[in-house]
Amino acid sequence: MAMIAQQIFGQMPDGRNVELYTLANDHGVEARIMSYGGTLVSLRAPDRNGVHADVVLGFDEFAPYLAQHPYFGSLIGRYANRIAGASFTIDGKPYRLSANEGRNHLHGGRIGFDKILWDAEPAESAEGPQLVLSHFSRAGEEGYPGNLSMGVTYTLTAQNELRLDYSGSTDQTTVINLTHHSYFNLAGAGTIHDHLLRLTAARYLPVDPELIPLGEQRSVQGTPFDFTVPRSIGSRISSDEAQLQLAGGYDHCWVLTERSGAFALAAELFDPMSGRALSVFTTQPGIQVYSGNFLDGSIQGKQGQRYQRHSGLCLETQHFPDSPNQSTFPITVLRPGENYRQRTIYRFKVDQQTGQ
Ligand code: BGC
Repeated sequence: MAMIAQQIFGQMPDGRNVELYTLANDHGVEARIMSYGGTLVSLRAPDRNGVHADVVLGFDEFAPYLAQHPYFGSLIGRYANRIAGASFTIDGKPYRLSANEGRNHLHGGRIGFDKILWDAEPAESAEGPQLVLSHFSRAGEEGYPGNLSMGVTYTLTAQNELRLDYSGSTDQTTVINLTHHSYFNLAGAGTIHDHLLRLTAARYLPVDPELIPLGEQRSVQGTPFDFTVPRSIGSRISSDEAQLQLAGGYDHCWVLTERSGAFALAAELFDPMSGRALSVFTTQPGIQVYSGNFLDGSIQGKQGQRYQRHSGLCLETQHFPDSPNQSTFPITVLRPGENYRQRTIYRFKVDQQTGQ
């Protein structure tokens, strides 16, 4: 039976309760989401033999989520990814943001949407159980202009889809770019080197040593960035290609082909061993593919697992990094009276084939 259950997962330092919601569908897919950071804590999906595994990295308990961690399963905002120099200008007016990665701004700053307690309401919909999250972000937080009213709804459908619907409105012109930061590992353990990845992208955004886009959209053809046909993630990740060396693996935004806000396939990920497959659909123009390059075994995650380098893959649908400072990128400005709307679906299925 499709259902949603609720329990207390932990407490914030100020004593407020953090709730954990379990969304389940008739096929045994189960997503657990907490109000802190709107974080996807676990996602259980079957393999080709019907055996379930948790396919996202994270922790069993609440406490480690409060400590420093690399955005396991978090909602990211107000601006996902980097803003160079932690500053930008709108309509000639300069704004200075909090700098939380050297001189740059990353994933919304010191207290981004990953570190706040969202208001959460469970709901039943025709498509499946939902968790409706909302948050009011005050003007000036982390340096951003505009009071921002945010909504993110997670829906678990009967088609084994975890859908995220993002919405937002502001009372002053501002910038916005939300994403979801799960580290997927369809095998449930080990590295993602043998996972096959396909991206509907013919170009990507090369970066400088601080991982800020250069502004150029570079063809993937003939490079380790070519995932136009399924390729294993590990096959070229250690090549001496300069862009991979800079980032210690993949940590780049791909330019999704043929879009103008249309909802379309962005990525397909497949684990030949288990048969678990994930398709990602989105309205967003880009997808940041981050291969967990900064994981180094120092974090002890679920069931005592030490998360080593490349043990999870983030598929972050988003607008391009540093767009507020890049005149050739699609704009991320939100004005009063406009509605910010984006949708991303993570669809799970089982594939009998064993890959190539
Ligand atoms: C970024 C990485 C960053 C990571 C933090 C990703 O979205 O692309 O560069 O280190 O988030 O967890």
